[in-house]
Amino acid sequence: MTWIYLNDRFVPHEEAVVSVFDHGFLYGDGVFETLRAYRGRVLLLSEHLARLERSASRLALQLPVSLESLGKLIEASVERNHLPEAYIRVTVSRGPGEIGLDPALCKTPTLIIIAKPFRCYPDSFYTDGVGVAIVRTRRNLPEALPPEIKTLNFLNNIFAKIEATAAGAYEGVMLNHREELTEGATSNLFIVQNGRLRTPGLECGILEGITRGVVLNVAKGLALPTEEARLYVADLFGAEECFLTNTTHEVLPVTKVNGQPVGTGRPGQITGRLRASFLAGLDRLLDRL
Ligand code: PDD
Repeated sequence: MTWIYLNDRFVPHEEAVVSVFDHGFLYGDGVFETLRAYRGRVLLLSEHLARLERSASRLALQLPVSLESLGKLIEASVERNHLPEAYIRVTVSRGPGEIGLDPALCKTPTLIIIAKPFRCYPDSFYTDGVGVAIVRTRRNLPEALPPEIKTLNFLNNIFAKIEATAAGAYEGVMLNHREELTEGATSNLFIVQNGRLRTPGLECGILEGITRGVVLNVAKGLALPTEEARLYVADLFGAEECFLTNTTHEVLPVTKVNGQPVGTGRPGQITGRLRASFLAGLDRLLDRL
């Protein structure tokens, strides 16, 4: 049986239901985080908690428990479900309240922690790479809905995913209103150009991915020049290598853009080195937990 943490206790997953008046459901009013546990240990917990708090504060949403308690509850969710390899989703919504946009209508936020077995991606994702499509959907305008907030309002990303799937690609890469590359529907984007690792800067309007931050550090450790910059479609087509990062698929090689091969059309060497070094670093982090 899967145990879900709901508000103030663990309940069997059939009993883990929320009100139809929850503003998370009615309006996408809330925030979330996706984490992973390896060997039963939650990776980069404090980084994810810090981002959850940042997101919540941008919505003037008070987390219902302290960050310290939340961390313990996340770890308890993994333990309770006996999960060595886990996918963890933490959701905090505005909570149930009368219909209406005013957050004051909701007295208590809803807290949900789902920890379930991690389903591995196919090996071919890493041996052959995946394809991305540049989609027509633009990334949310930062002045409208800042992409740096990990909100439950995910339609922008869903539109990109629908387009990518229709184009036969795994991920959709969105541009911003200035024609700059931003990110994928659920991942950050990296390219290698002239042996240099480049990724859209935060000013392009992206989520500051935790994996992105780790990969930039790993690159520095490998003495690889890195650059957070404004990048364009031509940079992606002209890249020697490309990859995506996120918590679930880690460093994922991209070998096709809009059906065209990237570089040699095979996962790149630098991507491979970064992935190996990322995994080794992750092992070291876990050993210390
Ligand atoms: N997505 N950009 C977007 C829009 C994302 O949704 C995500 C993560 C990332 C990568 O962030 P991180 O490295 O911190 O996972 C970038 C998670 C995995 C999700 O959608 O569940």
